[in-house]
Amino acid sequence: MDVEELKQLIGKNFHYYQTGQVANYIPALAKVDPKQLGMAIYDLKNDRMIEAGDSNVRFAIESMSKVPVLLLAIKDNGLERVFQTINTEPTGFAFNSIMNMTINHRKHPMNPFVNAGAIATTSLIAGENAEDKFDRILSFMKEICDDPEITLNEEIYHSESRTGDINRSLAYYMKGNQMIEGDVPEILDVYFKQCSVNVTAVGIAKLAAVLANKGVAPWNQQQIISEESATIVKSIMTTAGLYDESGEFSVHVGVPAKSGVGGGLMAAVPNRYGMGVFSPALDPYGNSAAGIQLLTDVVKELHADIFE
Ligand code: DON
Repeated sequence: MDVEELKQLIGKNFHYYQTGQVANYIPALAKVDPKQLGMAIYDLKNDRMIEAGDSNVRFAIESMSKVPVLLLAIKDNGLERVFQTINTEPTGFAFNSIMNMTINHRKHPMNPFVNAGAIATTSLIAGENAEDKFDRILSFMKEICDDPEITLNEEIYHSESRTGDINRSLAYYMKGNQMIEGDVPEILDVYFKQCSVNVTAVGIAKLAAVLANKGVAPWNQQQIISEESATIVKSIMTTAGLYDESGEFSVHVGVPAKSGVGGGLMAAVPNRYGMGVFSPALDPYGNSAAGIQLLTDVVKELHADIFE
């Protein structure tokens, strides 16, 4: 695929923004212009980035942060400890549902990509205090996205924190049931901040390229994460990356992916591509409406469906 073909597919799918709505449960996200669509594709075989549309617009990483934070938690604690705390089962419930824990007889959050599991993941990040923990997350995001410009979006952070009562209830429920350890307000402060970091589709494509490339950054050949953690995280993305739309996405698109309510989508095609998409209007599951349509076309065009 070349830039012209990507531009064409962006033009073809742009109108799908009209089928979605920007996230309105977080006031700062409700103000984002829905008429945006961009994509970046890191082609591992030819070692080049193809990008078009709004691929360099900064937007909130939101739930896509659950991927780098999980990778950092694994670096800090090892695979065993992380997956003793958080299961790896998909759920049919919305991302912020309390059902993502209680239905499970093992008394753990069901996977690291639903909010409960992501808050539990954040509770495992090493550091002296909330500030130190968030600084470590931010540095790791900059490294794995190869993007030194990543910063905290203060407006989104305050908006997240002000409206985060469901996340508070999930965290206190887990603490009360000994599913997590640590200070709940501190854990939540880090979680709200990690969601409020500004990224671009290009940076997300680079993160996904590391996952696709067995943990090695293709731009400098550094092993940023272990091959085993890259494999495991891609499989959880396949079963749970798009919440209660994961099954349908797997059938129609068929690539390990993760979404965020800022309108981002990341997709890691093993040994072939890292992809980042941005379009802020969301479908009813909280996933980018035009982004999914564009990704579907690109994956078809590249024969990148891993089940094909
Ligand atoms: O926890 C929340 O509500 C948000 N900050 C992140 C949720 C999110 O991105 C869900 N994804 N599609």
